[in-house]
Amino acid sequence: MVIAVDGPAASGKGTIARAIAAHFQLPHMDTGALYRAAALNLWRWGGDPNSEFEAVRACEDIGSNLEDPELRSEPVSRIASKISAYPAVREALLERQKAFAAQPGGAVLDGRDIGTVIAPDATAKLFVTATEEVRAQRRVRELLARGMPAHFDEVLCDLKARDARDTNRDSAPLAQAPGSIVLDTSNLSVEEAVAQAIALVRARLERLEERN
Ligand code: CDP
Ligand code: CDP
Repeated sequence: MVIAVDGPAASGKGTIARAIAAHFQLPHMDTGALYRAAALNLWRWGGDPNSEFEAVRACEDIGSNLEDPELRSEPVSRIASKISAYPAVREALLERQKAFAAQPGGAVLDGRDIGTVIAPDATAKLFVTATEEVRAQRRVRELLARGMPAHFDEVLCDLKARDARDTNRDSAPLAQAPGSIVLDTSNLSVEEAVAQAIALVRARLERLEERN
């Protein structure tokens, strides 16, 4: 059983993916963390995000960055979204994600291209979304809670720019995968969003069982 969870920034896909993984007792991978970890390497070296060559080098040795508190900072978000548009960067991080999705026991992955590229044959695909304003508000709250500076207008502007880059790039853009179920969390609490997501996956599994 493979569950693909995609969606734009701060839509709640990570929260939902983690909850689905816990519910169905499956391992979970936050694929955005891989791009962020590479971005953090580049940021720390003072590397150039406009250089595909340097961005690919930054994809090496990302393991120790995956738990770094700076991973969620705005500069790292911005660099991650820039370098993730390079085909060679996506290629460098592809195998690790495909292997995770292909585990015999199944897996839950969240990101931008799980249902389209990483696991196109996923058992269930969710596309999680919410309005830009709601998503920016969530990100502001998150940054402030981590003790990082955050201003709504700036965060909204960054979020719109990142969504546009992620949607308009040629290589594995953010897109609703064929067969995916859309879950709009704009007016849902975390608990409501999680409950609806689990119910949608359950309904999908029941439909598949009936067919077999
Ligand atoms: O949590 P949030 O949605 O803000 O971002 P994330 O999922 O941690 O991803 C950070 C950046 O990595 C995104 O803006 C994308 O540019 C990139 N990304 C990607 O290209 N493909 C993925 N499967 C996951 C993330
Ligand atoms: O992974 P992604 O960037 O899409 O979002 P997330 O990290 O799961 O959620 C971003 C923030 O929004 C977190 O602080 C969540 O607790 C919050 N959230 C919310 O307020 N309401 C929801 N329905 C889902 C998430």
